[in-house]
Amino acid sequence: TLFEQLGGEAAVTAVTTQFYANIQADATVSNFFNGINMADQTNKTASFLCAALGGPKAWGGRNLKEVHANMGVTNDQFTTVIGHLRSALTSAGVAADLVEQTVAVAETVRGDVVTA
Ligand code: HEM
Repeated sequence: TLFEQLGGEAAVTAVTTQFYANIQADATVSNFFNGINMADQTNKTASFLCAALGGPKAWGGRNLKEVHANMGVTNDQFTTVIGHLRSALTSAGVAADLVEQTVAVAETVRGDVVTA
């Protein structure tokens, strides 16, 4: 699975931590996370990604369409955030083809997150 190829839960969590660091350093998307506990956010998104990448634990959290409803995320903002995931993967030393396969999995939630 992609989950195994990336190095399992610890590796996915490390990438997710860097993903949110990149987001918080980008004023075009950081405001969405004002007041959000980023440690919890990191753990939830890492758990979601582990499941989506073929890991052993099912996602036990909320439905992503309901979670992101009314945030007003645009397609361009989503694309920006995907770029932050891509750079987090690349900076972790993940091979380019595996980066793109992982990004493709994250892209599957675009329709649940984009509402504007
Ligand atoms: C929750 C924003 C993309 C997965 C949240 C929350 C915010 C947010 C503000 C916290 C909601 C709350 O606690 O009240 C955004 C923005 C995105 C984006 C602005 C893109 C522009 C994504 C992507 C994924 C994702 C690409 C998965 C790959 C999650 C998960 C939660 C969450 C798993 C927690 C759900 C739960 O509470 O059970 N998002 N998100 N988000 N987001 Fe996103």
